[in-house]
Amino acid sequence: MKFRSLLSSCCYSPSQTAMENSRHDRQDNESFRVYSYSELKSATNGFSGANKVGEGGFGTVYKGRLRDGRKIAVKVLSIEVESMRGEREFIAELTSLSNIRHENLVELKGFYVDGSNRYLVYDYMENNSLAYALQGVRENRMRLSWIARKEILIGVARGLAYLHEEVEPHIVHRDIKASNILLDHNFKPKVADFGLAKLLRENSSHVSTRVAGTIGYLAPEYAVSGHLTRKSDIYSFGVLLLEIVSGRATVDFDLEHGEHHLVQRVWEHYKANELVKLIDPVLDADFREEEAVRFMKIGLLCVQENPTKRPRMSLAVSMLIKDTDLNEHNISQPAHIIDFMDIKMGKGNSSTSFFSKVSTANSM
Ligand SMILES: Nc1ncnc2c1ncn2[C@@H]1O[C@H](COP(=O)(O)OP(=O)(O)OP(=O)(O)O)[C@@H](O)[C@H]1O
Ligand SMILES: [Mg+2]
Repeated sequence: MKFRSLLSSCCYSPSQTAMENSRHDRQDNESFRVYSYSELKSATNGFSGANKVGEGGFGTVYKGRLRDGRKIAVKVLSIEVESMRGEREFIAELTSLSNIRHENLVELKGFYVDGSNRYLVYDYMENNSLAYALQGVRENRMRLSWIARKEILIGVARGLAYLHEEVEPHIVHRDIKASNILLDHNFKPKVADFGLAKLLRENSSHVSTRVAGTIGYLAPEYAVSGHLTRKSDIYSFGVLLLEIVSGRATVDFDLEHGEHHLVQRVWEHYKANELVKLIDPVLDADFREEEAVRFMKIGLLCVQENPTKRPRMSLAVSMLIKDTDLNEHNISQPAHIIDFMDIKMGKGNSSTSFFSKVSTANSM
């Protein structure tokens, strides 16, 4: 179906020029379209609680089934309207996001926009998110074999390398974490929620005054300065990698020892030459030890304190798939955030209050 006819039957009619631009931008992407509210309402059983699959910083996600039987996920944005771009710009940004396609990225299928009501439509991912697979009961984690974990990491790295190095202008994801890695019916990973910041006005209160991202995954230099680069995503990817291989949360808490930061643990085990002890025990030795240890070293390279020491995503992909030299001399002490405390961008907070170099005194 053509964009023009769909838009005219919907609530929004952009100018002729905006239409021409959209059609031009979308020439390879005929499946992207405008949905009507009634279509989305009926697909999600009236946005019923039973259809709700999750809720995040941008809104609530519902599972739905279209009349043709296709499953979709509808994200109902709950951001205050003043923070979002005006309708025309919002649709233009969505249109350009819909053209970003890669087998490891979740596909944006369309939208519904009416004033402050904004709904995004994605392909539905049958196996939920990596967060669900890792953080749920032990049985969930047992479903993820070493091979599956390896494939997931390589897929995520490829999706990110595409956003960072092939899309023009490049896209920094900003919020790489386990809940933004969705798994399709074959457990193939798809990175979700890239480019959402583009839907917001510059200087919007939703993202710009606050560091976007999730503690545990947040690159220290980004948390401190608010200065966002691809290297901040690479830091988050490194944390995700360590999480997948170890099966441990990025920040853990127990009454006896207090808070544990995964990055710190991995560094301590690295220094003691005991990384193998951190490999997820549910894998039950069903993996090649050197390979899993090598992956953790790649994770450590990605979380280096100095962003210039982190590999580019395409290099991380080749490190993961080939036995390329890791140059272990480059692995030095990583850093991680110890306290989030409502970090505001551009306030020049003292870095020491927010992140710590992993302590050498407290090893093992
Ligand atoms: N396309 C999809 N298919 C299946 N489930 C999805 C889809 N998109 C999101 N979900 C589910 O909805 C949950 C909430 O997603 P949402 O993106 O709103 O929040 P989040 O990822 O936890 O946080 P953030 O807002 O920072 O991205 C996800 O964790 C996942 O379980
Ligand atoms: Mg998400």
